Amino acid sequence: MSNPARIALVRGVSPAMQRCELTHLAREPIDVAMAEMQHARYAQTLVSLGCRLLELAAEPDLPDSVFVEDTAGVLDEVAVLTRPGAESRQPEVASVARVLERWRPCVRVEAPGTLDGGDVLRIGRDVFVGQSDRSNAEGIRQLAAAIAPFGYRTLPVPARGCLHLKSAVTYVAPDTLLINDAWVDRSHWPGMRFVSVAPGEPHAANALWLGDAVIFPASAPVTRARLEEAGLRVIALDVSEIQKAEGGVTCCSVVFAD
Ligand code: GLY
Repeated sequence: MSNPARIALVRGVSPAMQRCELTHLAREPIDVAMAEMQHARYAQTLVSLGCRLLELAAEPDLPDSVFVEDTAGVLDEVAVLTRPGAESRQPEVASVARVLERWRPCVRVEAPGTLDGGDVLRIGRDVFVGQSDRSNAEGIRQLAAAIAPFGYRTLPVPARGCLHLKSAVTYVAPDTLLINDAWVDRSHWPGMRFVSVAPGEPHAANALWLGDAVIFPASAPVTRARLEEAGLRVIALDVSEIQKAEGGVTCCSVVFAD
């Protein structure tokens, strides 16, 4: 049976990326040209895994706008347009909304709610949402109300010491989570199989499962080996400049069924 058709929404790297929001990382020089190359390779990988790209133009004045995941969550039935927790990021949503409105009915998180898509981890009909500095109780309440009519259950999860829930845990294969136990409590997922990040690779829990592979940062080789030992096919990408902006491989796309 062929894979279902998928769309991957992406947006080019902003030339202003150096001015990105940083919460848990110290600022380092970002090579924007290299970030663009890394992002292009990432987009090619999405295509190689069966996605059709929907590409938004880079935003010259929105430093974090390459991280489209934070602006929307797309389910088969509805798209939820977020209200990002960092004020500088809230203008990113309008252009994403204009595109997604062509694919799905859209609902919006309204003030005083805040929600970042990086805090939203969906596993089937369960939607785990990080209680983070970016996603507040009102934002999580609005998300839950928007998706409950379609049979989704929303489960808030505290995340600590990291930007988003998906900095701490991602779904990488059937019934399998990649986790940094220092940042989130695995008891929220009883019955799951876990692969833990390796010591010294705290940022390795952010991986993007697509089809028969997992897109993963090349900067975490020991965790990569653990994933491969667990039977996963790993595509390791150099995303060093994206990581300096406190981003990861899930943040750079919104993948949904066509
Ligand atoms: N720089 C990514 C973020 O803080 O949202």
